[in-house]
Amino acid sequence: MEKTSIHGMWSSRLAFILAATGSAVGLGNIWRFPYLVSDNGGGAFVLVYMGCIFLVGLPVLIAEILLGRHGRRSPVNTLLDLARETGAAKAWAGIGWIGIIAGVLILSFYSVVGGWTLHYAWLYLMQLFGGAPIDDPAAAFSALLADPLELTFWHAAFMLLTVGVVALGVEKGLERAVSFLMPALFLMLLLLVGYGATTGHLGQAAAFLFQPDWSKVNGGVFVAALGQAFFTLSLGMCTMMTYGAYLPKDVSIPKTGAVVAVADTGVALLAGLAIFPIVIAFGIDPAGGGPGLIFTSLPLAFNAMSMGVIYGLLFFGLLFVAAWTSSISLLEPATAYLVERGRTSRRTAALSMAALCWVLGLASVLSLNVLSDVRIFDRDIMGFIELVASEIMLPLGGLLIALFAGWALKESVLREQLKGLSPALFTLWRWLVRVVAPLLVLAVLLNVLF
Ligand code: PHE
Ligand code: NA
Repeated sequence: MEKTSIHGMWSSRLAFILAATGSAVGLGNIWRFPYLVSDNGGGAFVLVYMGCIFLVGLPVLIAEILLGRHGRRSPVNTLLDLARETGAAKAWAGIGWIGIIAGVLILSFYSVVGGWTLHYAWLYLMQLFGGAPIDDPAAAFSALLADPLELTFWHAAFMLLTVGVVALGVEKGLERAVSFLMPALFLMLLLLVGYGATTGHLGQAAAFLFQPDWSKVNGGVFVAALGQAFFTLSLGMCTMMTYGAYLPKDVSIPKTGAVVAVADTGVALLAGLAIFPIVIAFGIDPAGGGPGLIFTSLPLAFNAMSMGVIYGLLFFGLLFVAAWTSSISLLEPATAYLVERGRTSRRTAALSMAALCWVLGLASVLSLNVLSDVRIFDRDIMGFIELVASEIMLPLGGLLIALFAGWALKESVLREQLKGLSPALFTLWRWLVRVVAPLLVLAVLLNVLF
């Protein structure tokens, strides 16, 4: 008998694509990817990264979606059901717990950074109505980070927007939000790339992104590329598994997964093509950017260009929307789990998880100012939470998901969920999740840990 999700379902294949792309496309594409490119040999990094996306990322993405659609419940319960069904140990449900905990940790700091994007979008919006320009962007950025109350306010605003969508449910909340936010995101991105083309530096930016400098390729490049593949595709914390639980039965998982992976990669490349021409045109060094590249360098450029306020609003609006559609996907798995435990309405479940993430986020807020001297394993508090969640828990979760889908699930289940995949591609996928992805991820994990 076909199972259904008690949380609701995406109304169409397109709805799922928009939601999953919304989850994937986030801060990871728009500031992290360009910065990693600039630090890791430009085009050579891009090629290695694309290899990781298609050899590890896409196979694991397919595994997550199919596990979700077969189980139709929140990650912990889906994995419990599937373990029971296959006779595998109940301990596999630990993957769901890794996912929920990683999601809570990631959302706690993601919302703080999301708050920055909201703050900047707001500053540019106000400039349209005669508000003060950002005269000294570096000083303005430091002032923001130094002010716990201001950070807490925007962190709260971002979290409220996130919980507002999740509380409304799959169809009325998530699907409705992404169906207008994602087209808006693509439109803003294209406008920005269009602007980049008019600076006369698009060619230089493209050369920087696509011309491989092989001398820069080393183990570190592979580690960075694989880690980015996980983070950028929202893999390893059961986000895509949860979204897969709401996917109608007749939709092709491999094709849809491929669309999401290509769209996410496309946005990362387009973001590079939007950002680097501006950076180069204003004589800013594109290397060594980090969070600062966008928040301190780009406003300089926006100050100097005609219609800069509009482009500033577009850029930070884009960044905010991208972060928002990702943050709702960070909150959804834990919310669905609480709802399934019973006696909790979706609204209460979403609100309590968001409250937990918000409180935890205060540690990240304070680590930027009052507690900036506190060091854990050589990182500040926010960096430490990021390390544990995105560099250890995501790859670990992804590794276990690949092994569970590849070795524990019955072949008949796999074939039914991947109907339409040619026998050769099915075999290829199966060995990628059984052996190739786990080994590559293990190598990265060992590299991070030792
Ligand atoms: N993929 C998102 C980004 O690139 C981050 C994310 C990770 C979202 C894990 C959900 C789950 O910003
Ligand atoms: Na991404």
